[in-house]
Amino acid sequence: MSQEAPRSAGEMLARAREFLARKGTGEPRLEAELLVAHALGLTRLQLFLRLDQPVLEAEVARARELLVRRGKHEPVAYITGSREFYGRAFAVASGVLVPRPETELLVDLARAQAKELGRPVSFADIGTGSGCIAVTLAKELEGSTGVALDISSRALEIARANAAKHSATLEFIEGNGPEALSGRGPFDLVVSNPPYIPPSERASLAPDVRDHEPALALFTPQDDPDHWLRRLLGPGLGLVAPGGTLLVELGHQQGPRALELALATGRPSKLHKDFAGLERVLEVSK
Ligand SMILES: C[S@@+](CC[C@H](N)C(=O)[O-])C[C@H]1O[C@@H](n2cnc3c(N)ncnc32)[C@H](O)[C@@H]1O
Repeated sequence: MSQEAPRSAGEMLARAREFLARKGTGEPRLEAELLVAHALGLTRLQLFLRLDQPVLEAEVARARELLVRRGKHEPVAYITGSREFYGRAFAVASGVLVPRPETELLVDLARAQAKELGRPVSFADIGTGSGCIAVTLAKELEGSTGVALDISSRALEIARANAAKHSATLEFIEGNGPEALSGRGPFDLVVSNPPYIPPSERASLAPDVRDHEPALALFTPQDDPDHWLRRLLGPGLGLVAPGGTLLVELGHQQGPRALELALATGRPSKLHKDFAGLERVLEVSK
């Protein structure tokens, strides 16, 4: 930002936009609004209603600090400590994947399946991260019982905090993949958004993702794009109750291969497209 301190919230916002545009961040306008609002302790709407409000030196310093972090491509959600998912605010911090809007499709599909069953359901979320899927399902599916699993104790710490924040009752388990749930269930719904980016694509990722989000949440192990498909269609599908459903989020090019492997299990399977028209979720019925 330029040397002379801004005098009003509006001036601060304009400077923030310019600064982030110069730094080449993804969406300078929106990001400036979110970060300036956060620095002033306001919502975005409140910020727009108070653009003429004078700003204090301490507020300018705070905004500068947040903008410098964003200028280094730290995700906005890590800086503000929060990201909205399915209409609820989820706490996020480094060490946990930032919930993505395309994952809401998986929640929509799980809700549709639960509605079809017409009774309270049991579900398992494999690789729960911030808990965005599990907490949302626990809130949206009345009377449901859910298990949320992750291998990362840091992710589970944040997921537990999110469950508490939203008064969602869930069982949290630290363990390695669907195999860690053997002996439990069966579940009406098994859902997962596993790490699906091939490590060979690391260099092509945006710096926000590549340099800040946890590798454990992003990359498929051993550069094997089928690793999680095999585990979820094998031991994962084994956790699904008769009449239940497995839902797996996919990388944007994984659809055809995922469907091929799913059909090889002999179970009815289909792909669902996200709002961008990409094959995003694999559904397998048991
Ligand atoms: C793509 S993130 C999804 C997080 C969250 N469900 C979401 O949709 O935002 C994948 C998650 O799987 C977890 N994970 C990675 N390997 C795992 C394993 N072997 N067993 C269990 N969880 C694992 C990661 O820690 C991460 O939280």
